[in-house]
Amino acid sequence: MNAPAAPAASERKAVSLVRLRAMLAAGEKVAMLTAYDASFARAADDAGVDCLLVGDSLGMVVQGGTSTVPVTLDEVAYHVRCVARGRRHAWLLADLPFGTYEANAEQALRSSVVLAQAGAQMVKLEGGWAAETVRFLTERGIVVCAHLGLTPQSAAALGGYRVQGRDEAAAERLLREARALADAGAAMLVLELVPAALACRVQAENPGLIVIGIGAGGDVGGQVLVLHDMLGVTGGPMPRFVRDFGSEGGGVRDALRRYVAAVKDKSFPDPALHAY
Ligand code: KIV
Repeated sequence: MNAPAAPAASERKAVSLVRLRAMLAAGEKVAMLTAYDASFARAADDAGVDCLLVGDSLGMVVQGGTSTVPVTLDEVAYHVRCVARGRRHAWLLADLPFGTYEANAEQALRSSVVLAQAGAQMVKLEGGWAAETVRFLTERGIVVCAHLGLTPQSAAALGGYRVQGRDEAAAERLLREARALADAGAAMLVLELVPAALACRVQAENPGLIVIGIGAGGDVGGQVLVLHDMLGVTGGPMPRFVRDFGSEGGGVRDALRRYVAAVKDKSFPDPALHAY
């Protein structure tokens, strides 16, 4: 399959929060990918990816571990510096690793400053409990993305990598938590492994919140995938929400362009194949 042309670099403006909110308001889907180094960050940026996430998934796809839990703040900061050197236009966000923000809001601020000084424009933290921390950070100039649904740092407590929010009580709790995080100032929300209908409700009830889905269907503001998964590099059985753009012909840059085009034209995720 031919890869569509990426926008010429000279025509692209740096992606800002204002631009991301305008995309949401206009119904243009946000294309996000994880990135961990300068070369792939440059290739994804050239392909038109809007947001690059230095995810703590690096503990698995880069370091070869079995979870995100052992990843440290210094390790994320190192990868943020690498990605920041390769990025030209994309918005850059980074995960606060496990154990670096949960104790109290001051700890979250100290950790966020480390990532901001490494080049992150936004930090991401997991959990529906975190509204007061989000408020504390946003009041101090940190731009925050929250993460609900399957939150990998607490996957063990959630009983493994399984779809969240399936029963009514869990769905209502997720809706309440999303509203509280948005009210506290979260600009973006990653929703992982939740039924498409629930994700659609979260977006509809929080129209100013940029909801980015991963295994959450297409009725949200945008999509994210782990780079190694969408390139078909990770190996082993993949969750059903992953599409292997790498197996569709051409090279890495073609696969990246195909991903951006499929998010933008809403052909990915396919409700029949990639949603719950
Ligand atoms: O760490 C990560 O890559 C993530 C994505 C799965 C959203 O949080």
